[in-house]
Amino acid sequence: MSETTNPGFTPRIFSGIQPSGGLTLGNYLGALKRFAALQGEQSETIYCVVDMHAITVWQDPEALRMRTREAAAAFMASGVDPAQSVLFNQSQVTAHAELAWLFNTVARVGWMYRMTQFKDKAGKNSENASLGLLAYPALMAADILAYQATAVPVGEDQKQHLELTRDIATKFNHDYGVNHFPITEPLIEGAATRVMSLRDGSKKMSKSDPSDASRINLTDNADAIAQKIRKARTDADPLPGTVEGLRDRPEARNLINIFAALADESPDQVLSRFEGQGFGAFKPALAEVAVAKLSPITAKMAEFMDDPAEIDRILGTGAERAAAIATPILDRTKDIMGLLRSRP
Ligand code: AMP
Ligand code: TRP
Repeated sequence: MSETTNPGFTPRIFSGIQPSGGLTLGNYLGALKRFAALQGEQSETIYCVVDMHAITVWQDPEALRMRTREAAAAFMASGVDPAQSVLFNQSQVTAHAELAWLFNTVARVGWMYRMTQFKDKAGKNSENASLGLLAYPALMAADILAYQATAVPVGEDQKQHLELTRDIATKFNHDYGVNHFPITEPLIEGAATRVMSLRDGSKKMSKSDPSDASRINLTDNADAIAQKIRKARTDADPLPGTVEGLRDRPEARNLINIFAALADESPDQVLSRFEGQGFGAFKPALAEVAVAKLSPITAKMAEFMDDPAEIDRILGTGAERAAAIATPILDRTKDIMGLLRSRP
């Protein structure tokens, strides 16, 4: 795929997650689970806890440090192996911030104002949002392009940011008459690229939703998971035999998609088993598969969190490996743009 789109570039996968709160089932199914699965294929895999993105909205400093470690623990508990992949936190590799500045001169202000995540997060009083929140997609493009990454696995909500990354790469290559940055492919795949709130099938499951019942946290215990699924909003109809029958039933569709993604089945396969049954039968089965898949991850996360010094060591080593890839690409970018480099 990326070989045909980006001839001449090493196949390389990059993705990131913000340490801005506890991680959810949405993060796991849309991102973490897939990060682990992509290891050891033909591509190098580089995974990042994007702490500099998190500070675009206020973070308590001590809590941020702790959540950065917790996000790293979630990567590893989900199967990201720091020996196979490069795992680090963004702020330890200065190439991200430097390249983001260079991209601030390439990206247009109008592109930034069009971002739906900016509109959502800035809310009504957008004049009072941090400048970083507006510039956020240029930093995200820098995360990806500092490694000349050819593919980025993410959930559906990041599609617009990846299009902007492609726009920045295209404009840079065009403005400077080079083929320096690849046109990165989004990898938005699987049954659960957009996991919805358990309370409202029209809203994304999010760590920032005020209702804890709306989401399954990766730190929830088996009882909490089962209870949240039992209370999840649904409708009164029995389940249909195929996904077409779920078109106007967003809550039902969401639970089917979650089941399918957890069980590594297609939504149609799940429906063929539950056709004609109501949620009284389906929800306990969903709770069972959710607990079976998530409990080992929760337990491993807790184990990693027992040794924060080891997490810090892993992130530090990862940052060194990341910098070794990113620095020559950043230097070349500066040369292309005419920024003088003469330091010995
Ligand atoms: P964030 O928590 O915003 O840093 O998101 C990290 C990753 O998780 C990104 O790839 C998102 O697209 C993905 N993600 C977040 N929430 C969801 C969700 N509800 N469904 C699917 N993927 C999600
Ligand atoms: N913007 C992403 C999110 O909110 C996180 C992110 C930052 C990211 N940089 C990235 C994802 C680079 C993929 C690649 O979910």
